[in-house]
Amino acid sequence: MDNPKRILLIVGGGIAAYKSLELIRLLRRQGIGVRAVMTQSAAEFVTPLSLGVMSEDHVYGDMFDLKEEREIGHIQLSRQADLIVICPATANILAKMAAGIADDLAMTILLATDKPVLAVPAMNVRMWSHRATQRNLTMLRADDVQIMDPDEGEMACGEYGPGRLPEPPAIAERICTMLAHPFNAALTAPRAPAPHPSARADRLAAQPDFAEESPRPLYGKRVLVTAGPTHEAIDPVRYITNRSSGRQGFAIAQAAAEMGAAVTLVAGPVHLVTPPGVIRIDVESAREMAAEVEKALPADIAIMVAAVADYRAADIAPQKIKKKGAPPAPLSLKENPDILAGLAQHSRRPKLLIGFAAETENIIEYAREKLAKKGCDWIIANDVSGPKETNVMGGENNAFHIITAGGTESWPESSKEMIARKLMEKIADAITG
Ligand code: CTP
Repeated sequence: MDNPKRILLIVGGGIAAYKSLELIRLLRRQGIGVRAVMTQSAAEFVTPLSLGVMSEDHVYGDMFDLKEEREIGHIQLSRQADLIVICPATANILAKMAAGIADDLAMTILLATDKPVLAVPAMNVRMWSHRATQRNLTMLRADDVQIMDPDEGEMACGEYGPGRLPEPPAIAERICTMLAHPFNAALTAPRAPAPHPSARADRLAAQPDFAEESPRPLYGKRVLVTAGPTHEAIDPVRYITNRSSGRQGFAIAQAAAEMGAAVTLVAGPVHLVTPPGVIRIDVESAREMAAEVEKALPADIAIMVAAVADYRAADIAPQKIKKKGAPPAPLSLKENPDILAGLAQHSRRPKLLIGFAAETENIIEYAREKLAKKGCDWIIANDVSGPKETNVMGGENNAFHIITAGGTESWPESSKEMIARKLMEKIADAITG
């Protein structure tokens, strides 16, 4: 080929770094030249020797290496490439790119280049879905950086969700498209043995069980969670509801999934992202929630976090209720089915059934009464008194009082995510211990 296309591959420090070796091999088979730059932390996962063998080129790493600077500067490295690819792009690299930080050779190249840039992120699912990472990605897209979405699946750390590096053939194809270079799928045959087995990730990659399920405390358990408020229609545009945001229930569903459970989340109307790996069923009313809970059985553990409306309009007006001069007729209400109490009596009652109690006074006393009345195993009581700005309902934090037949355990206030993890650990101990 007269003028072969060249990429500058920046290898970030992550467990997926070993896949960059396979990517280089595939790109070179497509006739694309690859020069590699590695960050300092990448060297924890792949060796410069491995990258050098695959690219048949010097591997660049330390911008303060005078010999390297004399031979070829960072501007030169980017100038000689048609495209800069960051693979794997860690959360740290993405954050530094978004902020314009140039604290090593890789970041200096990225700040100085005028070439197109493709970032191929790979990271833990929680790092991927963190608001900071998503905010950085939005900024980078606005800066014309192309982002290849990660794959979803089981991760090296044992969690499940989006964050896995896409397979090297898919990355190679994307690079070819960006370079307007023909992609020959036939040349993406299975990889040759790893060239240098000394680095940690190289060794891990060689282990056949590397990607397999790691033992997690709730693996094989079915967990059912309800979350959010319900909307009880009055007419086609009006409804009765409450201030529940659904955040606590979603955090519990997420924590259960992270601990290996198969989670079904029956959610009232909320504006929240579905936690990775969770099956979510959206409902509006209490009666719809009751029907979906029934369908989700059997479950080993049920955690009823939803703030279900106790009452609904006795009659839903088929058309919008109009002002007619005189005050409207009083709204007559009917009681909704009690989903938690129903589950306690069910022939397929979950082994561990947990209810929530939102109280504004006499918290422990009312919650203990509720434990008996509903027939569940634990009640988690929250104090929902206080002004809207600092209220548990809709807020960031929560404090739990866990009421069981054996007594009461009170946990201090912490974020809804933290307390959800602590709760799931207690549940795992109770169910498996
Ligand atoms: N719950 C339910 N179905 C309902 C009402 C409540 O499953 N129709 C569940 C909630 O999800 C929660 C628990 O019951 O786990 C407690 O709900 P709460 O509304 O606080 O209790 P109530 O029984 O409604 O008692 P009160 O309103 O008198 O406090």
